[in-house]
Amino acid sequence: MIVLRTDRELDLMVEANRIVGLVHRTLKPLVKVGTTTRELDSVAEDVIRSHGAEPAFKGYKGYPAASCISINEQVVHGIPGSRKLVDGDIVSIDIGVKLRGYYGDQAITRVVGNISEREKELLKVTRESLFKGIEQAVAGRRLSDICGAVQNWVEQFGFSVVRQFVGHGIGRRLHEEPAVPNYVPPERNPRLRKGMVLAIEPMVNLGTPEVVVADDGWTASAADGLPSAHFEHVVAITRGEPRILTMFEEEIDA
Ligand code: MF3
Ligand code: CO
Repeated sequence: MIVLRTDRELDLMVEANRIVGLVHRTLKPLVKVGTTTRELDSVAEDVIRSHGAEPAFKGYKGYPAASCISINEQVVHGIPGSRKLVDGDIVSIDIGVKLRGYYGDQAITRVVGNISEREKELLKVTRESLFKGIEQAVAGRRLSDICGAVQNWVEQFGFSVVRQFVGHGIGRRLHEEPAVPNYVPPERNPRLRKGMVLAIEPMVNLGTPEVVVADDGWTASAADGLPSAHFEHVVAITRGEPRILTMFEEEIDA
């Protein structure tokens, strides 16, 4: 399904994604030793509601929180709770909001204290792979150009892309067509058209790409227990350069 977004719709999505960015900005100084993931989630929900928006994840297929907070080997969909952050934690924070009918969605992975050189490389390569994918979000190219660019970048450094979870179209729903895998998809390969809006979100593992889901029905972890990273931007395909609707990390962290 091809969704052509008007400029007005894109403006609304920028507003929704700006609130997501403000949540990430507010959480940044709280990502430190001793903070519980529930505290992060509660601040996230407060910031979202204080801007007149709703937490898009809460209630989505029964998901119980405003944020997904996935630590170390957890890949995505970690449910906030009583766990306290400790030195060396790699913390993926994924936030979604709904504002006046339109959705915003962005994941950033942050660190607590000291991590290993290989872990630093995992974060760097995952972030870079997101931008390699974004570069391909150009009208006339195909979905697989995005997917392949992400996959090539990641695998070149000996890391692996998660298959079980993928990016997605976004707009009037949190998840719209098409699915945006971080690997070259075996079948459907639509041409990219002006007006499509995609959430591109590489989930990259240091070891095996295999993922297991916990008994809570949500928390997805790398099967070998090695760390995982996740970065996500929402990108609109235009007549020219890709337009990133989410806030840049540089701006969030400024
Ligand atoms: N941000 C994730 C995504 O983009 C996940 C949300 S699913 C939820 O697909 F249930 F946790 F909300
Ligand atoms: Co998403």
